Parts: sequence; C-alpha cells; structure tokens
Amino acid sequence: MNPEITEMLKVAGRFGEGKRFLMITLGCQMNEHDSEVIAAILKYIGYSTALTPEDADLIIINTCAVRKKPEDKVASLLGKYASLKNRKKDLIIAVGGCMTQQEDAANYIKERFHYVDLVFGTHALPRLPKLLEEAGGQKKGIIVDIEETYSSREGLPVAHSNHFKAWLPVIYGCNNFCSYCVVPYVRGREHSRSFEEVVSEARSLARRGYVELTLLGQNVNSYGHDLPGNYTFADLLTELNQVDGLERIRFMTSHPKDLSMKLIEAVRQGDKICEHFHLPVQSGSNRILDKMNRHYSREHYLELVEAIKGAVSGVSITSDIIVGFPGEDEEDLSETADLLERARFDSAFSFIYSPRNKTAAAELKDNLTYQQKEIRLQHLNEIQHRISKEINNQMANRSFELLVEGPSKSNPDVQTGRTRTNKLVHFTGSDRLVGKLVQVKITDVRTWNLIGKLEGELN
Ligand code: 5AD
Ligand code: SF4
Repeated sequence: MNPEITEMLKVAGRFGEGKRFLMITLGCQMNEHDSEVIAAILKYIGYSTALTPEDADLIIINTCAVRKKPEDKVASLLGKYASLKNRKKDLIIAVGGCMTQQEDAANYIKERFHYVDLVFGTHALPRLPKLLEEAGGQKKGIIVDIEETYSSREGLPVAHSNHFKAWLPVIYGCNNFCSYCVVPYVRGREHSRSFEEVVSEARSLARRGYVELTLLGQNVNSYGHDLPGNYTFADLLTELNQVDGLERIRFMTSHPKDLSMKLIEAVRQGDKICEHFHLPVQSGSNRILDKMNRHYSREHYLELVEAIKGAVSGVSITSDIIVGFPGEDEEDLSETADLLERARFDSAFSFIYSPRNKTAAAELKDNLTYQQKEIRLQHLNEIQHRISKEINNQMANRSFELLVEGPSKSNPDVQTGRTRTNKLVHFTGSDRLVGKLVQVKITDVRTWNLIGKLEGELN
C-alpha cells in the first residue's frame, strides 16, 4: 500500500473497532466502486458491516446528483433516520458522493438535516478516517469536506463486493460539459490513472481469481490524453487483453465524439474484450445534440453504429436517451424515434430531462409539462422495448457463454448470468457455478432477460 495512504489510515487508528456500518449507494458504477473503497477504509479502521440501520453505529449515504430523483431519495432516507438518531446519540450519519460535492446541496443537507454529522465530497475519500474520528468526537456540528481539488486514490484499499468480477476505474472526472450534465462540476476535470497502475491492478486482480473486469470512466475514450506517452484507451485494452487469468474485459462509458476506429479494432481483435458498447446518444435530433453540446451529429453517430456492427460480430450496443430537453419539439422527438429504429440498440435507458444547478441547460426555458415528458418517454420506451425483444428473439435456440453471477432474487435454484454482450440469462443450476463460465442454450426470450438451459461448464 502507498505509504502516504497507510499513514492517513493510521491517523484514525482502530476508531471503528467493535462498531458496525451500513452503506447505501445511489447512482452509477463509479459510485458503486467508491462505496467499495469507503467500505475497505472502514474495515481497515475496525468497522464491520451492519445488516439494518438499527444495528449500525455509522450510516453512510453515497449520493448521486445526475437527476433530481436520486437527490429526493437522499432527503427521504435522511428523514427516516431522524428518530433513530434521537434514540441513538452515538450514531454517526455521514453523507458523501456527487450530491454533497455541490455547495448548495451540502448547505441544504446541513440546514434541513441538522442531525447529520459529516458531509464529504468525492475527493475526500483519503481523508475519511480522520473526518470520521472528528465526527465521532461529537459536539462539533456538521463537518463538511467538499474540497474541489483532485486527491489521488492510488493505494487506497478496495473491498470488492464480488470474488470474480471487479470494477477498475481508469479515468476520473469529465471535461465535456454537456449542457445538461452536473458530472464535470461534481467529479472535477479528467484525470487518467497511469497505464502501469491500471495494468498492475488488473494483473493483481487476475492473480486473486477475478475473471471479469469492467473498466470505468465517465468517458473512457478520452483515457490517456493527460498522460505522458500518447497512450490511448485502445492501447490500454490491448495491453489488458494479455493479462493471464482474465476471461472478460468490459468498459463503460464511451462518448461518441471520441470513439475511434482504433478502439473498435481493439475490441474486434481482443479475445477477452467483450462485444458490448455502451454509447449514449442522448438525442436523435441534430438541433438538440447541438444544444446539448455533444459535438457529433446523428449521421456521425449512425456511422459509428454501422462501423461497430460491421467490425465486431455479434456485438451489442446500448444507449442512454434524454427526453424533454428544453426546446425539444415533436420533430426532434420523431428524429430520436427514427434513430432508435435505425441504430437498433439492444437496450436503451431513457430519462426525463432534469435541470441541474450550474449547468448551461438550467438557464434554458422548459417548454413541456412533466406529463408531456412522461408521454414522450413512454413513446420512446415502447419503440425500444419492441426492438430489444426482436433482437433477443434472434438468440432463441442458440448457445452462449455465461459468467454466473449468483442465484436469482426470487428462486435460489435459479442462477443468473451474463453473456459477453451483457444480456441477463436465468437458468436452473447450483450455487457451485457462481463465478464460473458456463454454456447455456436459450430456451425462452423476454424483453429484459432470457431463460436458458445449462449445457456445460467452460472453466
Ligand atoms: N437529466 C436527465 N438525464 C440525465 N443524464 C445526465 N444528466 C441528466 C439530466 N440532467 C443521463 C444521460 C447520461 C446518463 C448517465 O444520465 O443520459 O448518459
Ligand atoms: Fe456528463 Fe457529458 Fe461528461 Fe457524460 S460526457 S459525464 S454526459 S458531461
């Protein structure tokens, strides 16, 4: 471990000895990874995990700021914990993540939920032990640490929530400033991890038995531009493809403006690199794409989709869409619907536009009611669900490789796994298969998942 980090962790000694923590994670994969880092820090200073809020000495909410809905969730969770805090004076309530990184949101939490002990931003992770110790010292009021400058995370421990698949961040932050998006304000500017650091972490994970890695970044395609040595994301993928022991390498998210032919080629050639691109289009209308500051046209996007499908056989492409962006008219909506028909995504997540503080689009006049936006969302969803089902239908009676992830929520005898193209498949099988690669034949097709029959084990 990095000596500086070891020193920082030592500051708190074994502050958490005999205590338990409960963590609630909202938002994206990067946040899930952050929570794994937070959990490891807490374990390092003595904490163990609690199963219920009543059982916990520390409750941490790792927040998301990308839309209003996850922010509302934080308020409702904190509301729920008020009486608990009344009964358990020693309980520490901490709120971290993207929402708290905004000064106004941090102030709102401070004023409205005065029983919160600690508010920490996305750059505060290495300081967490010290902050918790101060918060546990009580009577200091709320401690707020929402420093804007990037602090290196190299060397911080990670408590992986799985023993066979892991997140591997490659680039933090975002420089793109899409006009609707709060991420560049809360996660800061892009910061690529060094090539050597990423490769050595991948090797170490593979040695410890991890078979699937998902490389994370708000925009993985801009990996390397801030590093010496002209490394690109395609170079990184190609290098990771050589790591012994790994079976699957995934990556997300790709920005269409930076997706290179070299990257498509790296995916085509790399036997471990999974045939899946998450390539958010956001809108099919050039007028709206321009207002969103996305720096590509629908024509360019569709060319990329064609290039990917032409080069990588069996590839799946998923996307994100925002409906009801300010000024979006019926014509723009039908351009998006038309793009869905042409791109034929395996699936797409559609979101109703949610104005975010500080962003450029927040200044634009909203022209639709929420109900009108909901109708538009439903319209796009209907189109996409039909397409998803049609694409999935083509998988019927064919065999696919699955990485088994664990029992299904509703039936312990049914295991859930993912194909290389990231499709969810349920099949009857034992727990013994979790973390293994198996071959299944698809017997039934649904919009969201598939049903398969186990044919054999692959590793
Ligand atoms: N409103 C609605 N959706 C948003 N996204 C990002 N910002 C907003 C916003 N202000 C969506 C985009 C992005 C996904 C992670 O969240 O589609 O790709
Ligand atoms: Fe937000 Fe755009 Fe950056 Fe994605 S690329 S995180 S949408 S600013």
